[in-house]
Amino acid sequence: MNIDTLKSVANAIVAQQKGVLAADESNATIKKRFDTIQVESTEENRRRYREIMFTADGIERTVGGVILYDETLRQRTREGVPFPTLLANRGIAPGIKVDLGAKALALHPGEKVTEGLDGLRERLAEYRQLGAQFAKWRAVIEIDEHDLPSAFGIRANAHALARYAALCQEAGLVPIVEPEVLMDGAHGIERCEAVTAQALQAVFAELDAHRVQFEGMLLKPNMVIAGKKCPRQASVQDVAEATLRCLRRYVPSAVPGIVFLSGGQSAEDATDHLNAMNAMGPQPWAVSFSYGRALQAPVLAAWQGQEGQAAAAQQALLKRCELNGLAREGKYERAMETAA
Ligand code: 13P
Repeated sequence: MNIDTLKSVANAIVAQQKGVLAADESNATIKKRFDTIQVESTEENRRRYREIMFTADGIERTVGGVILYDETLRQRTREGVPFPTLLANRGIAPGIKVDLGAKALALHPGEKVTEGLDGLRERLAEYRQLGAQFAKWRAVIEIDEHDLPSAFGIRANAHALARYAALCQEAGLVPIVEPEVLMDGAHGIERCEAVTAQALQAVFAELDAHRVQFEGMLLKPNMVIAGKKCPRQASVQDVAEATLRCLRRYVPSAVPGIVFLSGGQSAEDATDHLNAMNAMGPQPWAVSFSYGRALQAPVLAAWQGQEGQAAAAQQALLKRCELNGLAREGKYERAMETAA
């Protein structure tokens, strides 16, 4: 492991206005996204959709890294340039989702644990050869008003995240560590804050025990937010304050950057929340984004699988990236959404 390389990759991904485009949907997930616009999920349609995004002019100003899926990492542009090469040539770090998905946690009804550790060392070596500079592993923490998650569910997921992160650093890849407390459910923001605190505390204890170097990783957490079905939705300012309070308590300042997931928030809300946090002044770590849906929903809506709409889809992506770039500096305003 060369910690200086890991540090410089991690810092470059979250430099200035930059964040991450999460384009690592598994084939099952991208099919769901394509279903919403009645596009068939063929290998070529998936390739073309990703190509449209990765060739959008100007995204390198605000996108420091793109997370790819196994199939995508091996795909090429029409001209035959491998996607990782295309991205790296634009100054964007290519990354790879390496977990194999969240499966039911045995004897723990309603909870999940992420699989994919077996053979991971060998897979990481191949991904690195294919051009990946960083990796991502997502743990899913189910939450309800009282019982979920269990302490063991959190521990099992934290342990898996730490084993993954250690293997990444050994292989020379920056691990993005993603413990996602879901937004589903009717719980209030206070419950989300308590569970997020427990999850982060457990994750950093395990990372430390596994000798992961915090300087060479990125954290991808949920924001602290009320469940989607909660009648009491918190204000933008309340979300920003609760999220930063929780992160400042449990995330070591040695971590170079926090790159939030969007988790089902609208594109506008995800940008607004990020902006409010950055408007609260400097934090120990860069406060940035690693959005999937909140960057891509407008792209899919503009594209509709129509070749003639490719330029409009690129514009939609560029707009979201630029607005999130402004949010990184606390300079975004909701009124910018409607501006031409
Ligand atoms: P969302 O921003 O759509 O939550 O996706 C980010 C991600 O990579 C989830 O693993």
